[in-house]
Amino acid sequence: MSKLKHNVEKIWEKGIPVDALIEKFTIGKDRELDLVLTPFDVLGSMAHVKMLHSIQLIDDDELPEILNELTKIYHLAVSGQFQIEEGIEDVHSQVELMLTRALGDMGKKIHSGRSRNDQVLLDLKLYARNEIKEITGLSEKLFSLLIRRSNQSKDVLIPGYTHLQVAMPSSFGLWFGAYAESLTDDLQLLNAAWKITNQNPLGSAAGYGSSFPLNRQMTTDLLGFDNMNYNVVYAQMGRGKVEKTIAFALSSIASTLSKLAFDVCMFTSQNFGFVKLPDNMTTGSSIMPHKKNPDVFELLRAHCNKIQALPNDIVLMTNNLPSGYFRDLQIIKEVFIPAFDELKSCLQIAAYAIENMTLNENVLDDKKYDLIFSVEDVNKLASSGVPFRDAYKQVARKILDGEYVPQKNVHHTHEGSIGNLCNDMITEKMNSIVDLFDFEKIDTCYSKLLSK
Ligand code: ARG
Repeated sequence: MSKLKHNVEKIWEKGIPVDALIEKFTIGKDRELDLVLTPFDVLGSMAHVKMLHSIQLIDDDELPEILNELTKIYHLAVSGQFQIEEGIEDVHSQVELMLTRALGDMGKKIHSGRSRNDQVLLDLKLYARNEIKEITGLSEKLFSLLIRRSNQSKDVLIPGYTHLQVAMPSSFGLWFGAYAESLTDDLQLLNAAWKITNQNPLGSAAGYGSSFPLNRQMTTDLLGFDNMNYNVVYAQMGRGKVEKTIAFALSSIASTLSKLAFDVCMFTSQNFGFVKLPDNMTTGSSIMPHKKNPDVFELLRAHCNKIQALPNDIVLMTNNLPSGYFRDLQIIKEVFIPAFDELKSCLQIAAYAIENMTLNENVLDDKKYDLIFSVEDVNKLASSGVPFRDAYKQVARKILDGEYVPQKNVHHTHEGSIGNLCNDMITEKMNSIVDLFDFEKIDTCYSKLLSK
């Protein structure tokens, strides 16, 4: 036995105190990480208790008392005063302990018909719904900024590249708008993750249901879920699967941001000089007095690349597990929970820095970009009846002979091209995706639960 002091009796303790070192290792980071789950754990308990009352497992006079205590704990949690005491394993045990301290036997009743396995499943889903709402809001803000900057700079041409070789005319309008449209697909994926998340696992208990006549539809409605995970074994299999699905969506947003960050880093380089960050948003060098580095976009890129490893982290933690609960699943929280704050700060700083970035309106004055107009000339010849392949050869010959002189005007009219960005359509697409998330319904359900 280790010398560490054994602290508080576990909710599952049966007279044999746990070895202190084993206890410390198995609790791991839960006392810290579970704090973000607390308000959701309490909301889940409120719904569960109301349901237990409806099936006569909690008496009429007990219900208001339990709800009252839970409300107090909820307010402690949202005001940051809730703590998980040393020796208490997790948020679920702490809440039950507080209820029991306040209400005696009444507090012990609330665990009828549930297990910490479906409790933590539920908490993670409620927590994730809230985070998805915040990520959606921040993505929408960045989207609007990108569309605004795209519209403002639709006539400012820059070179487009393939193989990082100067290729064809592009514009800041196209460039900003591309990242805006990329976010629409990312949010589409986030909405798919939202739909998978927004199903009630509560009532699956340890993963095999309960002999109490639980009313699972009732907790589904009280918590504002769109649906339920019906099969209790599948509900438990959702642990890890839900986190992984959300992780794929977060990673998609992150990949949009990291590509944008790379472009900005490249475009701020003196060899490009397309965009400029205000001096007070760059960082200096300890040795080279002239340096103004775009560290903010480099860190943005690194954070977003790290977030793209999240689905893989979760796959590795879960893919060799059979059905049923395993403690392995606890560790997913260590990578899943911090990812939201990391992505949120990336979305915020990206918007802040892009808002303040200035654009070089005269990039194409540099002769090294003259050849981007070659395709314009080929197309002009082709439009006048010269077969495309012959037109291509004529222009290629002029270039080889050093006789090519560009006429620097582009005439692109089709959908999504320089002259017709379709930003209104892209905005419509974004709005229709955002409308698919029914955040208000959930707010209404929570207000009802909290008003008892
Ligand atoms: N901290 C645990 C987790 O995150 C809570 C569930 C505990 N369940 C159990 N059977 N030990 O998974």
